[in-house]
Amino acid sequence: MKTSTEKKKALSGVKPTGRVHIGNYFGAMRQFVEMQEEFQMHVFVVDYHAMTTVQDAEKLRDEVSNLILDYLAIGLDPEKTILFKQSDIPELTELTWMFNCLVTVPWLERAHAFKDRTAKGIEASVGLFDYPVLMAADILLPGTDVVPVGKDQIQHIEMARDIAGRFNHLLGEHFVLPEAVVGKEGSILKGLDGRKMSKSYNNTIPLFDTEKKLQKGINKIKTNLLEPGEAKDPDDSVVFDIYKAFSTPEQAAQMRQNFLDGIAWGEAKKELFTLVNGQLSDSREKYLELMANPAHVEDILQAGAAKARARAGAMISDLRNAVGLVNFK
Ligand code: ADP
Ligand code: TRP
Repeated sequence: MKTSTEKKKALSGVKPTGRVHIGNYFGAMRQFVEMQEEFQMHVFVVDYHAMTTVQDAEKLRDEVSNLILDYLAIGLDPEKTILFKQSDIPELTELTWMFNCLVTVPWLERAHAFKDRTAKGIEASVGLFDYPVLMAADILLPGTDVVPVGKDQIQHIEMARDIAGRFNHLLGEHFVLPEAVVGKEGSILKGLDGRKMSKSYNNTIPLFDTEKKLQKGINKIKTNLLEPGEAKDPDDSVVFDIYKAFSTPEQAAQMRQNFLDGIAWGEAKKELFTLVNGQLSDSREKYLELMANPAHVEDILQAGAAKARARAGAMISDLRNAVGLVNFK
């Protein structure tokens, strides 16, 4: 039972598979920072999950370091947030096995990520197939109450709830049923080509590129042939979509009017750059400072892992008892 003064637990992670982009920031990461006052935040790098798609040790190591820097640069404070790597908590793989024995193949076949992959004719690895179960272990092991994620992850949270319910029903009440919290307006940011911004589509604007590259990225956003002075549809424009994500409602309303009044594409992009750059420039500087101090970053990770593991060890011991694995201790 939680006492009324105890903070609720929130947990979320991002895959270290390619540079984080403004879609990840807007849809998920920005919320982590906003939530660290109210919740006991746990934020981690899901390197076990990344193994489902990355089979290159050096690349994986690089991606993990980049993502840790991203987390710290956007303002996650290790004094408030437990920041760690998934693979520092090996108990997660044991819990995944326990859960694997409670779920069925047809149930797992419903997962979008698996369905998308097989629809493309790609044979999924067993790891990819099992992705939602490992994710359920991530969420349930620390007793997470809420999970801030982008809309596309809601199904995974629902699957974690189902697994928690099933375990509690069959083997005793051990897990909190988690809830998803979805970012601003629950929307998905579009990428340069108008599809969902995603590392897999190569259509992203990276979060921490140089100012020049940010400008170049914004200039590459696909627009139409409407001339300056001709009214433009804000609801059918990636430029407006991104502007809206980063602006206040008042700024968005003004830009909407500018679109209807026929703002030139070049001008709209310039305003978009000023807005996004203004919000990211301090974090970009912090990123560079952190990059120059890897020992400090390593200390933060080790402290985070120790905190996360303290609870994981005790919990897994209870669960071993619950499922009937003999505990000699
Ligand atoms: P990607 O599609 O680029 O590989 P991930 O699947 O690793 O991104 O997503 C990491 C987090 O960022 C998830 O919580 C996801 O919902 C969120 N996210 C990813 N792309 C977007 C987007 N275009 N708009 C909003 N949120 C997003
Ligand atoms: N599946 C999530 C994504 O692709 C990453 C993830 C793994 C996660 N485990 C998690 C997110 C636990 C929230 C909580 O973005």
